[in-house]
Amino acid sequence: MKGGMNNVVMLVGIPFIIYGVLALFMGALPGWVLSQTPPAPGVVPLTAQQARGREIYVAEGCSYCHTQQVRPLKQDLVFGRPSIAGDYAYATPELLGSERNGPDLSNIGSRQPSDVWQYIHLYEPRSLVSNSIMPAYPWLYQIKAHADPGDITVPVPPVYAPTRRVVIATQEAQDLVAYLKSLKQVPLKGAGKR
Ligand code: HEC
Repeated sequence: MKGGMNNVVMLVGIPFIIYGVLALFMGALPGWVLSQTPPAPGVVPLTAQQARGREIYVAEGCSYCHTQQVRPLKQDLVFGRPSIAGDYAYATPELLGSERNGPDLSNIGSRQPSDVWQYIHLYEPRSLVSNSIMPAYPWLYQIKAHADPGDITVPVPPVYAPTRRVVIATQEAQDLVAYLKSLKQVPLKGAGKR
């Protein structure tokens, strides 16, 4: 009888210890070590508006098609310099992405700083890039008869614009574009030298 009880303790206890050690070394410790990574010089936290925009980026599934990681490969040079851990100090959980159906966005704020371009593109990508496969996000806009004071009117090209109505950027569109504009790689000291 006594031996039987011991078996139960071993059966439960040994896996408990093994999985506990594994969880600590493979889950908790790497997470803790990574959380100690200091921000790269010049990397700043998101403002409240940019942080809201990041949530919209997640909710709209932009990461299904866009990465935010520049690999140290020649073919990635068009997107910016290779990403480093310190770039992500204030961007956790990281939105690295794995599919690149569209361009990497790590440095889109430098590459395309115009809000007007971003507003038109999100309203209807085909109005700017005729063969684009990116979805349109019309629900980030309000279609009205007239703009009210304070409204941000989006100059959508006539072919795609609603007839005799104006396209207004909602708060969500403004937040998302503020976030896109914040995606700027800080220059690294000594970058480009080898
Ligand atoms: C189905 C895939 C797909 C999804 C989802 C998607 N995109 Fe795109 N995106 C693309 C493609 C393809 C391009 C390149 C053609 C173009 O500019 O429209 C692109 C281009 C862009 C560009 C211009 C990049 C550059 O270097 O000029 C931005 C900015 C952008 N997307 C933002 C977004 C945002 C924000 C979302 C989510 C609201 C999003 N995309 C969702 C496929 C996608």
